[in-house]
Amino acid sequence: MRESSKPWRPFTANCCSVEDQAFFGNYSRCRTSKSDVSTSIAPLPSFRRLSFSDLSRSSSIRINEDLAQNFGPDLFDFQLSELRAITQNFSSSFLLGEGGFGTVHKGYVDDNLRQGLKAQAVAVKLLDMEGLQGHREWLAEVIFLGQLRHSNLVKLIGYCCEEEERLLVYEFMPRGSLENHLFKRLSVSLPWGTRLKIAIGAAKGLAFLHGAEKPVIYRDFKTSNVLLDSDFTAKLSDFGLAKMGPEGSETHVTTRVMGTYGYAAPEYVSTGHLTTQSDVYSFGVVLLELLTGRRATDKSRPKNEQNIIVWAKPYLTSSRRLRCIMDPRLAGQYSVKGAKHMALLALQCISLNPRDRPKMPSIVETLEALQHYNDMAVSCGQWQASPKSTARNGVSPRGRLESRGATYRKSAPVTSRKRN
Ligand SMILES: Nc1ncnc2c1ncn2[C@@H]1O[C@H](COP(=O)(O)OP(=O)(O)OP(=O)(O)O)[C@@H](O)[C@H]1O
Ligand SMILES: [Mg+2]
Repeated sequence: MRESSKPWRPFTANCCSVEDQAFFGNYSRCRTSKSDVSTSIAPLPSFRRLSFSDLSRSSSIRINEDLAQNFGPDLFDFQLSELRAITQNFSSSFLLGEGGFGTVHKGYVDDNLRQGLKAQAVAVKLLDMEGLQGHREWLAEVIFLGQLRHSNLVKLIGYCCEEEERLLVYEFMPRGSLENHLFKRLSVSLPWGTRLKIAIGAAKGLAFLHGAEKPVIYRDFKTSNVLLDSDFTAKLSDFGLAKMGPEGSETHVTTRVMGTYGYAAPEYVSTGHLTTQSDVYSFGVVLLELLTGRRATDKSRPKNEQNIIVWAKPYLTSSRRLRCIMDPRLAGQYSVKGAKHMALLALQCISLNPRDRPKMPSIVETLEALQHYNDMAVSCGQWQASPKSTARNGVSPRGRLESRGATYRKSAPVTSRKRN
């Protein structure tokens, strides 16, 4: 298959990693020699040992030269004026969303913009560029997504680096983020089968990253970073925090703790030790969100319900109890066996000991097996449509009815991704 047949190469090979060493301390460039570049090995077209330190402090002209040299025709190097034109000058009516690092706008490219670029809708991310963190994330995204191609990763079409401006151009994902579908009050509830399909797609994306020749740790798996195609195929976006996995006999990489509270694995938060199993923990949290329709953290709820793990854990091991925390918006239209297995899988994923967590390929297998169950709770009498039973998810232990998702709050980042 194309997506797995294209090996990709480490970009931190020379002298540093993105955040731990040379990023701010060592500004000397460690460019690969021209001869290195010219002897590049097929089948990875022109990519050679591109490193963050190569590019992190270079001028925008130099960065463009380096990226163009390394990615060649695989990525388009856009001008700011071109991106302004296709987004109506980043008008608010073209706004798709806003994250910790800037806004995302819809744009349309036509056949004439660039040779080899077909007419299509695109999403243009405009990074807020005060300080270096924005540039760092931009660069990480270009370097990772520029090389990694898979049907469950969003496709990076190109980038723009002009003086202080940093932009990214992606394929447009017509159904937006999983976060919007699960939690926005006006959205239509996602059916059980679609939730399962999304979980499988996202799991395949992570399995691909973890199984790469040089494993990649995604580090920011959460519902807002799972984007949905028109047929609800899930694709991972946002590789600004991605990190190369440990090499050789190393068991982990040590990094500054970054990510999003509620999703980050506890051992990573407490030690900074990052492994692929940290992503598995975050995946388990998202499974809980798919089951319950609740956010990983929600400060608008009573104290003991604010953290999804603390709240849901006691309910995960029995179908009878699980019923109480299933998303009321599913209205019983979910497979009882499927939900039970998904809940048990989520429980394994959020194990405190990373070694007890399953690996992504086995997660994909487990989830795929759930697609065949048709025992809908509502048809097997396991779901009563009375307000009393269906509202359990929305009723506090004291019996007070809570409005679901009354306040929209974005989960707080572990290390603030917004600058002060
Ligand atoms: N390729 C795309 N196609 C369609 N919509 C997109 C695309 N990329 C992003 N979006 C929309 O823009 C929103 C903002 O994305 P962004 O990645 O900037 O922030 P976030 O994921 O919400 O938060 P964070 O900064 O913590 O990652 C997404 O939630 C999604 O709704
Ligand atoms: Mg994002």
